[in-house]
Amino acid sequence: MRKKIIAGNWKMNKTHREGMEMLAHFFKLLDFELSLNEDTGKKFPEVVVAPPYLIVADAAMLAQGWDVKIAAQNCSSEKEGAFTGEISAAMLKAVKADYVIVGHSERRAYFGETNQLVAKKIDRALESDLSVICCVGETLQERESGKQLQIISRQIEECLFHQNNEQMKNIVVAYEPVWAIGTGKNATPEQAQEIHKHIRLVIAGKFGKDISENISILYGGSCNPKNAKSIFSQPDVDGGLIGGASLNAKDFIEVIKAIL
Ligand code: PGA
Repeated sequence: MRKKIIAGNWKMNKTHREGMEMLAHFFKLLDFELSLNEDTGKKFPEVVVAPPYLIVADAAMLAQGWDVKIAAQNCSSEKEGAFTGEISAAMLKAVKADYVIVGHSERRAYFGETNQLVAKKIDRALESDLSVICCVGETLQERESGKQLQIISRQIEECLFHQNNEQMKNIVVAYEPVWAIGTGKNATPEQAQEIHKHIRLVIAGKFGKDISENISILYGGSCNPKNAKSIFSQPDVDGGLIGGASLNAKDFIEVIKAIL
């Protein structure tokens, strides 16, 4: 059975104090939902929160008492040294982060990150024993010219194909159509399913059925309490990477419940 995962990406939102207050509130709400769920026999998803770097260490400490994983939103493609302003994967591991998100479309678009750079970041993360959420997705222009499958295949190949099967077990893929991120215009469940199935096929072609059937593929892009259920009900959608709706504890809880 593939792992179901709901991850919240706070992006550049919340000061340390705001973030810690929200987490304390969120953990309590989550605990309540877990207790309600106990007798239903339904499997709760893995819950991941990706706050800004400055909150990662304290969030990871706070999360220890709860069943929540902490992710960073980025890491350096270098190990250490004279790279002013960068944060390494080893530093994140040292403060007990569990995951790192790489290749988010905002990093690709605003900071010029290429598939090659993303591939290096993944290497650094895996070397430091972090799990990876690797984001892929096409722009509106690419979709309108019918190139989405081609673009996604290329992103998967160039970011992930140099890994081996063992390393692939620590990778989660997030499909985030760029035109759906922060726009309020989510992909339809059918559009998400089509791409997720394609991603699984591409992965199967390189790593075999065992890896492709077990890798978790998340959907991201304007996912909210209203549309989450229909998207998560698709057979190849294993959860979500949630931006805006993860900034509010109640909304995030509702998205998590949508996968039960
Ligand atoms: P959104 O962001 O849910 O605000 O569209 C998703 C993401 O970028 O991870």
